[in-house]
Amino acid sequence: MDLGVVILAAGQGTRMRSALPKVLHPLAGMPLLGHVLGTAARLAPKTTVVVYGHGGEQVPAHFPIAPVQWVEQAQQLGTGHAVQQALPWVQAVNRVLVLYGDVPLIKAATLQRLLDASAGTSLGVLTALLDDPSGYGRMVRDPTGRILRIVEQKDATEAELKIHEINTGIMVLDRAQLGDWLRRIGNNNAQEEFYLTDVIALAVAEGEEVASVQPQRREEVLGVNDRVQLAHLERYFQARQAQALMQAGVTLIDPARFDLRGRLQVGPDVSIDINAVIEGEVVLGEGVTIGPNCLLRNCRLGPGTQVYAHSVIEDAQVGRDARIGPFARIRPGSELADRVHVGNFVEVKQSRVGLGSKVNHLTYLGDCEVGSGTNVGAGTISCNYDGAHKHRTVIGDNAFIGSNTALVAPVRVGDGATIGAGSVITRDAPADQLTLTRAPQTTIEGWQRPKKDRIPDSR
Ligand code: UD1
Ligand code: CA
Repeated sequence: MDLGVVILAAGQGTRMRSALPKVLHPLAGMPLLGHVLGTAARLAPKTTVVVYGHGGEQVPAHFPIAPVQWVEQAQQLGTGHAVQQALPWVQAVNRVLVLYGDVPLIKAATLQRLLDASAGTSLGVLTALLDDPSGYGRMVRDPTGRILRIVEQKDATEAELKIHEINTGIMVLDRAQLGDWLRRIGNNNAQEEFYLTDVIALAVAEGEEVASVQPQRREEVLGVNDRVQLAHLERYFQARQAQALMQAGVTLIDPARFDLRGRLQVGPDVSIDINAVIEGEVVLGEGVTIGPNCLLRNCRLGPGTQVYAHSVIEDAQVGRDARIGPFARIRPGSELADRVHVGNFVEVKQSRVGLGSKVNHLTYLGDCEVGSGTNVGAGTISCNYDGAHKHRTVIGDNAFIGSNTALVAPVRVGDGATIGAGSVITRDAPADQLTLTRAPQTTIEGWQRPKKDRIPDSR
């Protein structure tokens, strides 16, 4: 049976108090709608339609390559009206699954159970039993348990308000009858909206059966209406990810202080201290340790590498058994080979550092190529920018750069070269030689430090 998915995402999200459309607010670094699109894709639908409205083109513009049909609902006249806007794009399917763009954590497995349970019926609803059902539409069943209709909170009687089974909003509907049902619903209700939920009573009156399924966890069907709910789902999601990583063999010193906003691949026995933020695609080899308060974004660290406290590594590759930090910043385009040491207050940008080289203190390497076995002394700065262009610095193998050296690029330092401390290197320094630019040290004999004039004692 061909499936079409319709994602409702036109609501205004007033309670977010934000210029950003609600469905673009991130959860674990990805827009709410991105989560729903990812889950929908796992059901392999024939078409996916997103109904957007509030925020206009910002929403489709955010997903330029998503294989979905975007449909604008200029005025938000209700969930039934929203689904109607999508109808022309689901002509060729047998069933329509309705999802919400602001219910991000629904699982594909739960949706599949709903689809399976509804296989023999023309309607299926994902429902949930809530201790506090307020705000939701309630499932009204007959004494034998058959679903009769859904009543919205604002239209419910005292008795109906006591029902704890709610409509999550997620529904599957027979495509052939949907157009007809939607044409027949009205907006004669408390909110003067066209309710998708009214389809249930219509279909039941025609003798249809309504299937229902419940999610495994309540959080799957929780919507985001304000930033408090967004933060709640974020923590829930992070806790689940942390749990999965620990079960996969990662030590998290405190799973409550761990944030993964992307994908993390790990070898055995990785250990991550508190307040790590991991973004994008990150790969950590066997035995990698990450110290407290580190940010890792789109990077790959080889086995045995240790990252100490307060380090930032972004769009970079690090080999095995390297040591980074504390307080190191590895910027995009950097490649550090095996056993490299990059110490405190060192910034590396768009540079390669070869096997076993050490850059231990207070250094800037920008657009550099450093060979293997080289020692870059404290306070070395590559002057890679002349105000208009960036230039490269090339340092060979087994070189020794004395402390407080300025390397004015473009410049080369040969293999085995030594640069005297405090030099400003503007021309290439030959291999195996000592190069320095330093005024000779002099001592002036008999020189006296000036003295303050003595104020005579008046007494
Ligand atoms: C809806 C259901 C209610 C259910 C609840 C679950 C109806 C009439 N009611 O109520 O039974 O318990 O969800 O959260 O369906 N949207 C549009 N266009 C519109 C209106 C809404 O795209 O014109 C989108 C919203 O962006 C949102 C979703 O549909 O993602 C639900 O809309 P919302 O107004 O939040 O519905 P509720 O009143 O919460
Ligand atoms: Ca809602």
